[in-house]
Parts: sequence; C-alpha cells; structure tokens
Amino acid sequence: MEYFIVILKMIWLMLPAYLSNPAATLIVAATGSGRPIDGGKYIGKERILGDGKTYKGLFFGIFFGMITAVVQNLINKYFLNNMLPLFDIIPVITLPAGALLGDLTASFFKRRLRLKRGQAFPLVDQLDFVFGAWILTYFLSTYWFIKYFSWQIMLATLILTPAFHLMFNLAGYKLGVKKEPW
Ligand code: CTP
Ligand code: MG
Repeated sequence: MEYFIVILKMIWLMLPAYLSNPAATLIVAATGSGRPIDGGKYIGKERILGDGKTYKGLFFGIFFGMITAVVQNLINKYFLNNMLPLFDIIPVITLPAGALLGDLTASFFKRRLRLKRGQAFPLVDQLDFVFGAWILTYFLSTYWFIKYFSWQIMLATLILTPAFHLMFNLAGYKLGVKKEPW
C-alpha cells in the first residue's frame, strides 16, 4: 500500500479514539470539573486516579467519540462511496471507551509513580489511549479489528501518534487553550 493511503486510513480508524480525550478536556474546561472517578480516595499518600479523571469527562469523551464514528460512517456512505473503513457498532463504542479506559489506567500508574495530576509521562501520555482502544476492540470485535488494523496501520499509528500529539498540543498552547506546550 502507498504510504499516503496507510496514513489516511490510520487517521480515519483512530479518529474516534483521538477525539475522546480532547472532548473530555473541553467539556471540563467549558462546564467545570465533575465528580472524580476515584471518589477522592487515596492509596497511601497518593490519589487512586486524581482529580483529572472525572465521570463527566469519561462519559462525554466516550459519547463524543461515538458521535465521531457515526458521522464518519455517514460521510463514508454518502460522500465517499464506502472507500474508507466502516465502523461496526461494537468498535463505535470500544474505540473511544477503550481510549479513555487506557487513559484512566495510565493515570493509575502515574499516581503510583508519584507523578502529580497533569505531570508529563512521555510516550505513556501519548500512547495509553491507543493501546486501550486496540485492546478493548480486539477482545470485543476481533474480526473487525483484524480486518482493518494491519501491521502497517498499527506501525503508522505508533510512529505518528506521538508526533500528532506534539503538534496539536503546541497549537493548543499557541492558541492559549493549553498551559503547557506538551
Ligand atoms: N478529563 C476528565 N476525565 C477524564 C479524562 C480527562 O475530566 N476521564 C479532563 C480533566 O479535566 C483533565 C483533562 O481532561 O485534567 C486532561 O486530561 P488528561 O491529560 O488525561 O489528564 P491530566 O490532568 O493530565 O491528569 P493525569 O496526570 O492523570 O493524566
Ligand atoms: Mg495530561
């Protein structure tokens, strides 16, 4: 396959997962924080997950990622002649849900390593949601996952996601939406 096609398909397939975390960030920025998933509880001196993981962010992020996949399916069907991968009902749910569960899991380990909320954990911050989305989708929709996630697509995801992450965060910083440029 041409590089360009691989990259295009990869972005298409990962978009519902990519948009779930920024959606969580934006809803909290727009409407204020919500109830933390860990209920404010600690393990030893550190929070289980921290105030950066709320039910509001989790549910809105999943919802927004699902809407993204549904809109992609409609665009694909009505404008692109089904040229790009179609999201089955299970991946519509598991791509964003897995992404945010991966993000929660990473926060759990960040707190165990005594990293404060928002403190950077290079590569983990950029890839936690990729693995979360892949693992949940693989287990719940194995056939669909294997059909679309070829090794070329997976390799492109692992190489390009950290690069996209940096680009978008730098843009967010320049626009004044984000406090740190990473
Ligand atoms: N967010 C949320 N609920 C989630 C995920 C994200 O409310 N399940 C919101 C929080 O306001 C969070 C912001 O989105 O601060 C950015 O998300 P993220 O970078 O994942 O969290 P951090 O604040 O960096 O916390 P951590 O160190 O635990 O990753
Ligand atoms: Mg963060």
